[in-house]
Amino acid sequence: MALTFGDLMNDRSGCLAEMMEVARAYLVDSAQSALLRRVGDIIDEVPVAPCPDKRWFQQSYGRCVTTEPEDLLVGEGLFYLTEQRKLFLDCTGGHYQMTWGYDHPELTELLLDGIRRGIVWDNHSNIPSAPVKRLTAKLVELANPGRDIEQLQDDPESLNTVLSGIATGTVACAAAMKMMLMQHDGPGDPVFVVLDGNYHGTDVFAQRLRGMWKNYFCNLEVVAVQPNDGDQLRSVFEDRGEQIAGFWAEPIMMNREAIVVDPDYLKLARRLCDDVGALMAIDEIQTGFWFPEVIYCTRIGLEPDFIILGKGMTAGFHPLSAVVYRGKFDCLEQYDAISTNGNAALAAYMALGCIELIEREAERIEAAGNAWHDALVEIAAQFDDRIVEARGIGHMSGLKFRDREQCLSFHQAAIERGLWLRAHAYHEGHSTILTKFALPLDEAVARFAADAIRDLLAEL
Ligand SMILES: Cc1ncc(COP(=O)(O)O)c(C=O)c1O
Repeated sequence: MALTFGDLMNDRSGCLAEMMEVARAYLVDSAQSALLRRVGDIIDEVPVAPCPDKRWFQQSYGRCVTTEPEDLLVGEGLFYLTEQRKLFLDCTGGHYQMTWGYDHPELTELLLDGIRRGIVWDNHSNIPSAPVKRLTAKLVELANPGRDIEQLQDDPESLNTVLSGIATGTVACAAAMKMMLMQHDGPGDPVFVVLDGNYHGTDVFAQRLRGMWKNYFCNLEVVAVQPNDGDQLRSVFEDRGEQIAGFWAEPIMMNREAIVVDPDYLKLARRLCDDVGALMAIDEIQTGFWFPEVIYCTRIGLEPDFIILGKGMTAGFHPLSAVVYRGKFDCLEQYDAISTNGNAALAAYMALGCIELIEREAERIEAAGNAWHDALVEIAAQFDDRIVEARGIGHMSGLKFRDREQCLSFHQAAIERGLWLRAHAYHEGHSTILTKFALPLDEAVARFAADAIRDLLAEL
């Protein structure tokens, strides 16, 4: 018997299938201008159907049974419809990984093309297929702009090695942390210098770097510094010297209110690391694949020892991460850092497509990102009684509120208005709303979102 949607989704009446079909047709067939006019509305043309509930979910993931589930039903480009048939503008590229929004037509076509050509979904990591190998070459090329890739192979000082075939950013970060530990031969316990408010994944070691599980770690020290405080950084390096194993930073702190870490500060960290023999890792899980240069470090002329990539790499098709690093630090055994679900040939093919689109549309991406950030700067000036400043760069920009409660009220009002954006207001002193628009963002959508934010601020 053939597999059917009705059986798999427990939708024998076909109501959910019909709801999704009509909803998808609505998104695909409507002009963008028509969709923008109805953001925040319930789209009555779409029929109602019972949707699965979340009774088996973990509490922190919203475990509940409700007659009005507000979860995603279908998405297309920058828009999605919820199970309540409410139309949303997605201002965060899904969970910050949908580089090209939902179901980008060219990527969907590429996916089908890959399957037709016989590119497998996944396979044993020891027999990597052509797209995986091609992707590693492409990442090395991107990490070394202007250099002849053929000459990099014999240069262990260069960023010529890629740990690929790992699924999540957490595993990629952990791999770089392990390499740092293995390389460290300084005196005393190794010290990791990190930025206060860092987020480098969800395993225990990464969480130790952000202050958790302290009691369970010994023979290791973590020193958190404030981003952009060069004097503090100098004094930590002076104090700890060769004890420092590594320095970690996310160049735009998407996990701490979109604080931009000044490139000069990062270059200072680079010099300080060199002085004491410490290694530098730049976590580009968020910034990678969201700028015309693809890798943000190359945009700011920074060469760390490890660049961590993930999230947007496959535009949300399948998690895929990578560490691009100097060949001389290649010291891990295969099973020291692996995701056995992560070789993912088809996902690597999608990653190549995602990168190609970024390169093809580089100029437009630069202009759209700048225009969006500039719009938020104008809004911050117009509402300076409520807003401290615009934060972030390009598509990943936010607004820092003066007051946390106002930030949370604004967030609630934005969701009601149909703008899916996020609020960083769950830590003491945090009060920032955050966007990370998918790269199809254009002038009309940016103008719409800016006007809607203005209206919401005026009504606060
Ligand atoms: C900067 C940064 N590093 C690491 C991670 C962990 O990535 P993953 O969720 O794929 O494990 C994230 C996830 O959001 C992140 O934002």
